[in-house]
Amino acid sequence: MKRLDGKVALVTGAVGGIGTAVVKDFLAEGAKVIVMDIKEDAVQAAVDAYKADGHPVAAAAADIRDADAVKAAVDKAVAELGPVSIVVANANTGGASTTLDKSTPEAFRTEIADNMAGQFNTVHACIDMLKKTGGSIVVVGSVNGLATFGQPGYSAAKSALLSYTRTMATEYGEYNIRANIVCPGTVRTPAWDARLAKKPDVMDGLKRWYPLGRVASPEDIAKPIAFLASDDAAFISGAMLPIDGGLMAGNHQMARELTLEDV
Ligand SMILES: NC(=O)c1ccc[n+]([C@@H]2O[C@H](COP(=O)([O-])OP(=O)(O)OC[C@H]3O[C@@H](n4cnc5c(N)ncnc54)[C@H](O)[C@@H]3O)[C@@H](O)[C@H]2O)c1
Repeated sequence: MKRLDGKVALVTGAVGGIGTAVVKDFLAEGAKVIVMDIKEDAVQAAVDAYKADGHPVAAAAADIRDADAVKAAVDKAVAELGPVSIVVANANTGGASTTLDKSTPEAFRTEIADNMAGQFNTVHACIDMLKKTGGSIVVVGSVNGLATFGQPGYSAAKSALLSYTRTMATEYGEYNIRANIVCPGTVRTPAWDARLAKKPDVMDGLKRWYPLGRVASPEDIAKPIAFLASDDAAFISGAMLPIDGGLMAGNHQMARELTLEDV
């Protein structure tokens, strides 16, 4: 018996770095997966490849900012695979502001509103199904929602997702629906391609900040998501799990300077 045997999971951002790792891990754990992403061709190509390998998947190309499109895509996929009991709200809708000074009122509003609406629409399209059977919602936040690492609009949206997750955990608990949020640190995914093109050694600089001395792989994030989605986490709800190689635990360099050890 595998951990997610027979469960139907909706994964958004499912052809991106973390999303692909989640889909592969869920399939290996016995789940059926609805592959949702805004990239229509990539969704179809991924679904064709999974099906060719004998995996139970359904394509759901949709922009998560569009509630009607999300609902229509989910309903179509559910007709193929059955009702959803796991939702991984993973896609973020972008946002490029690097500092407050480089942001604008419109960009700031859009980053927060779109990111929140996208996650809301994803869960909203499935909530009636989850209420019937119980289920598990895993939201993908970020360490940017916990402390300041630049990208103010994106960070504010990720902070808001903590509140949203806690609200879901409390409001939907009576239906045996659990809601948790994971907060990854730096993960080497296509989201970094533009910055890597600009500065090829950007990861080498970043890994110095991580107590574990490296950045994450998408699989580092997918495994804990599978755990939270599964019945192994049956009494975990409303939790925030950093998946950050110890980043949020503290600052070793500062500790050295404070204690005058090895300075
Ligand atoms: N990579 C990191 O360093 C990192 C760190 C912390 C948190 N995260 C979070 O992890 C999640 C996944 O990021 P990733 O690194 O895998 O990024 P990615 O760019 O590799 O994948 C994101 C996917 O989301 C899809 N997407 C974007 N907008 C969409 C929309 N409106 N509707 C539907 N799909 C849409 C994209 O097409 C893409 O396939 C995001 O929520 C991100 O904020 C990433």
